[in-house]
Amino acid sequence: MPQYEKILLKNMEQPGYTGSLADYEKSGGYQAFRKVLKDMQPDQVIEEVKKSSLRGRGGAGFPTGVKWGFIPKDHPGPKYLCCNADESEPGTFKDRQLMERDPHQMLEGMAITCFAIGAETAYVYIRGEFRLGAKILNKAVEEANAAGYLGKNVLGTDRTINIYIHAGAGAYICGEETALLESLEGKRGQPRFKPPFPATHGLYQKPTVVNNVETMANIPHIINRGGEWFAGIGSPPKSCGTRIFCLSGHVKRPGNYEVPMGITFREFIYDIGGGMSSDKPIKAFIPGGASAPFLTPEHLDVKMDFESVAMAGSMLGSGGVTVMEEGTSMVWAALRLMEFFYHESCGKCTPCREGSSWLTQILQRIWTKQGRQGDLDLLTELCKNIAGRTICAFGEAEVGPIQSTLHHFRHEYEDLIREADAMRPKSKEIPVFNH
Ligand SMILES: Cc1cc2nc3c(=O)[nH]c(=O)nc-3n(C[C@H](O)[C@H](O)[C@H](O)COP(=O)(O)O)c2cc1C
Repeated sequence: MPQYEKILLKNMEQPGYTGSLADYEKSGGYQAFRKVLKDMQPDQVIEEVKKSSLRGRGGAGFPTGVKWGFIPKDHPGPKYLCCNADESEPGTFKDRQLMERDPHQMLEGMAITCFAIGAETAYVYIRGEFRLGAKILNKAVEEANAAGYLGKNVLGTDRTINIYIHAGAGAYICGEETALLESLEGKRGQPRFKPPFPATHGLYQKPTVVNNVETMANIPHIINRGGEWFAGIGSPPKSCGTRIFCLSGHVKRPGNYEVPMGITFREFIYDIGGGMSSDKPIKAFIPGGASAPFLTPEHLDVKMDFESVAMAGSMLGSGGVTVMEEGTSMVWAALRLMEFFYHESCGKCTPCREGSSWLTQILQRIWTKQGRQGDLDLLTELCKNIAGRTICAFGEAEVGPIQSTLHHFRHEYEDLIREADAMRPKSKEIPVFNH
């Protein structure tokens, strides 16, 4: 298996590393936070992160330093940081590992971010099912408070930084940043219209940064080793650094692997993941979580970076790579994903609320060999009427698997409809009367 230098998973892969504050400090933890408090101004921290070209690891890939720069500096009231630890995208399980195995790494990243944007209060919005992660994070926050890294007068300065862990109630939509803010405010988790953006009207309508767990975990390393160092890793200039990709499906070695962005899917699936778990060849793969359109074996040499995957017609998204072997029905795969999206649609936008139900019903009837001629046109039309017509990107996400399987594997849908036609009792000819 090829070996790459690890940044985020390095500590936890040391024998005996527990993720405690003592272990984290022994491996250089909180040095970056000490450095910013002692030697840097908030603007310098933002500049360093801009120099690194770090892009958000939650899905959209927005440049992190640029996002921080949108926070108004002269705002008189409170500002907030929210760390998005909802991680409910099927096929994605990297944030969980970062939280459970090295919680101080992301907490240090959050403390530095608070310093940079001038926030005194930060929340980790953690997926409700991550009970263990929440427990570990709460303990880590206690340790950091006791050691003076968090709380009032951090490390003897006049700054206050408090971090609170808030568990969600298990809704996929609460990973969408504005639904997350609504939920954190105690309201029903549904997205808000943008603009205004969270940078000016976020939590409690105050300037707010929302960043993913992995994004936060990168920050101490950028401060310690410099933005230029980070920008030189991976696939510069637009896809810098490493990424933790989550490998699942029909592969020999599923798991989380941290690699520099820009290696190919072939290297990732075969050299790192050990290839297919059976003798069957690969049929398709999802490159970036359930919302990302399917790719096929002809895309195996596409680079795992933001631009290359977009050029191939999909997205790097949340970093969840799910592999499917020959013999897997792509209609079934699309149906399983659609059932998930139907279940999780928050109901705020009509095209998504109604459309997800209709799409699921049509896929169900095709899969159970009751499909009709015209169903594929209907699916195509419905997808077109959902994507781009919803408040948040859930609309695009839910139609991706259908549109991409219709594009690459249309014959599988057609075969099932033909079978349904053949099984259907022929109805009696209806006489036509000509007047
Ligand atoms: C339906 C939906 C679900 C999302 N779920 C998550 C999630 O679970 N975790 C996450 O970090 N971002 C998720 N996002 C992306 C967030 O809205 C947001 O872009 C991200 O938290 C910003 O952080 P980043 O800039 O560090 O990536 C989701 C977006 C959508 C539209």
